Amino acid sequence: MSDTDSTHIPEHSRRDFLYVATGMAGAVGAAAVAWPFIDQMRPDASTLALASIQVDVSAVQPGMSLTVKWRGHPVFIRNRTEQEIAAAQETPLDQLKDPVARNDNLPADTPATDLARSAGEGKENWLVMIGVCTHLGCIPLGQSGEYGGWFCPCHGSVYDTAGRVRGGPAPENMAIPAFQFISDTVVQIG
Ligand code: FES
Repeated sequence: MSDTDSTHIPEHSRRDFLYVATGMAGAVGAAAVAWPFIDQMRPDASTLALASIQVDVSAVQPGMSLTVKWRGHPVFIRNRTEQEIAAAQETPLDQLKDPVARNDNLPADTPATDLARSAGEGKENWLVMIGVCTHLGCIPLGQSGEYGGWFCPCHGSVYDTAGRVRGGPAPENMAIPAFQFISDTVVQIG
């Protein structure tokens, strides 16, 4: 066997996201471009073991998103616009490919209403979800695709502004992790 087979492995696309450390002023504009990858020091074991992180979202204005890394996954934190919220709220549930909220903060059979996907009453503008396509794990692009939510370029899965799968091969809505706002501007994930 040629020893070149194991070389030149392309950089995996899931590394292709922006990592913003907790507490940094890291608000990122909503431009629909691939997340630039900012190389980082290899996290030490204590970092990887962190059960939860706290993120200051005070700089994330409506229409802006932040991506943080939690337990090895990118987590999208989006401050949704009124139009994005309305579009998701107005979607009949029977049009959803996956009718379940997939929200770790709610019972497993909770319907995938926009409210159930969001941070809840009074914080409907905030969407906090694991930014991993439920097909084969690529990182979807934000504010892209037919529904103005996310688009996964790997095989064409489309998600709406609540992160619910609306087309393509992905079987489930993107997952909502356990999280809570511990103040008006700080969200704890995990
Ligand atoms: S990994 Fe996203 S569509 Fe296949």
